[in-house]
Amino acid sequence: MRDYVTELMRRNEMRVVEREVDPRHELAAVIKLSQAESEQPILFRRVKGSKFPVATNLYGSRRRLCEMIGAADGHFPRRWLELKAAMKPSASEFLRPVPAPNGIRDGKISDLPQITYWERDAGPYFTAAIFLAKEPDTGVANLSFHRSMVVSDEELRIRLGTTHDLTRYQKKAEERGQALPAALLIGTAPDVFLAAAASLPYETDELSAAAQIRGRRVEMRPCKTIDLMVPAETEFVIEGEILPNLRRPEGPFGEFFGYYVPQGDNHVFRVTHVSYREDAIFHGLLCGSPEDIVLLQEATAARVYEHLVRQVPGVKRVAIHSPMLCTVISIDQQYEGHARHVALAAVGSHLDYNKSVIVVDDDVDVYDMNDVWWAFLTRGRADTRVTVISDVPGFYRDPERDHWGRLLIDATKPRGREVEFERRRIPGEDRIRLEDYFGGKR
Ligand SMILES: Cc1cc2nc3c(=O)[nH]c(=O)nc-3n(C[C@H](O)[C@H](O)[C@H](O)COP(=O)(O)O)c2cc1C
Repeated sequence: MRDYVTELMRRNEMRVVEREVDPRHELAAVIKLSQAESEQPILFRRVKGSKFPVATNLYGSRRRLCEMIGAADGHFPRRWLELKAAMKPSASEFLRPVPAPNGIRDGKISDLPQITYWERDAGPYFTAAIFLAKEPDTGVANLSFHRSMVVSDEELRIRLGTTHDLTRYQKKAEERGQALPAALLIGTAPDVFLAAAASLPYETDELSAAAQIRGRRVEMRPCKTIDLMVPAETEFVIEGEILPNLRRPEGPFGEFFGYYVPQGDNHVFRVTHVSYREDAIFHGLLCGSPEDIVLLQEATAARVYEHLVRQVPGVKRVAIHSPMLCTVISIDQQYEGHARHVALAAVGSHLDYNKSVIVVDDDVDVYDMNDVWWAFLTRGRADTRVTVISDVPGFYRDPERDHWGRLLIDATKPRGREVEFERRRIPGEDRIRLEDYFGGKR
């Protein structure tokens, strides 16, 4: 991450905040307002109560994510599938054990920036922490995000989603009455961050996947108090274990749907050691902001795309819209009913999301909801183009069944009348640069 921050500084892309900011709300408010006008990453040099600078919004840009994986045409899902197809399952050849590098310092949780994001959050949270843990039987490594509430130097409280691999590891260990050792990585390489966001098959070693995205071996150093190796270049490593048969109150926390998840009894992480690099840079992300959502959107789009191209022809692009519950798919229409086939297939691709699926023709910008909605409003009847599927569970954390049901919308051109629906355009428009006409005054 440090190299990436340096690279963004060199390219003059980083917004740097020199004045001291309060980690309680002020820092989050600056992130939110900055993201509303720009997708630039931000570096807060001075954060009250901690000696560490905070980097944020590193991943809050589709353009940057595509750049990271070499998707030159902006088609993240297709490039992701290419990388995945080339991945070898074996871990060892991509990981290189090294001794703990010089300059790693021992510390404690309260040394780290204690950032409180939303008004009713129960306290400071680590939001960009990646959990690294091993499958209790096979030793396969998994990387995943689980925001962590700071309780004390010895304790964090974490929420494990029902479908996550870490949840299955923890359950296995708990059934044996054992704690699950895990390390939290904060400020790690972009490819580790990408691999953590992806839901790769249970058997896939995600550290090895991260190394293969990067195309070079990841140096792994030992932890001090648990039997785990962690990427040596990680800025902060929190070692510990998820305790069995113990749940304590966690939350509320302002989440990506735009509301607070209420307080609930959740898992307890016992901290056994904290270390950081000299001059470490902390990574914090505003939950529900582009940095949280854009990567999750692209990782989910890749999963939907992979499922679709195996089943139906003519699929071009997949975009997921905020807050993850709307999927838009563009196709090259090939037969009557093609769009409905595509929408139905999408529903089965990820049972947590796809609450609404809109299928458009390839001349529509799937990333622009105005364009997508324009296509629906102008290309077909509202009464026959909308299908509602009732009584199907949706997002996994939904006790009141607010996310049951599915909405499928066919917003493609009526079959056989494509010529009538050719979009108007002005020749040469794409070559016009307004600065050449209005100068700097616009
Ligand atoms: C930036 C980012 C932050 C995330 N934060 C959380 C979180 O706090 N809690 C959670 O349960 N899932 C979170 N997720 C959802 C991810 O789906 C999850 O961490 C992970 O990818 C699951 O991986 P797995 O399928 O290997 O279990 C986050 C995802 C991203 C991209």
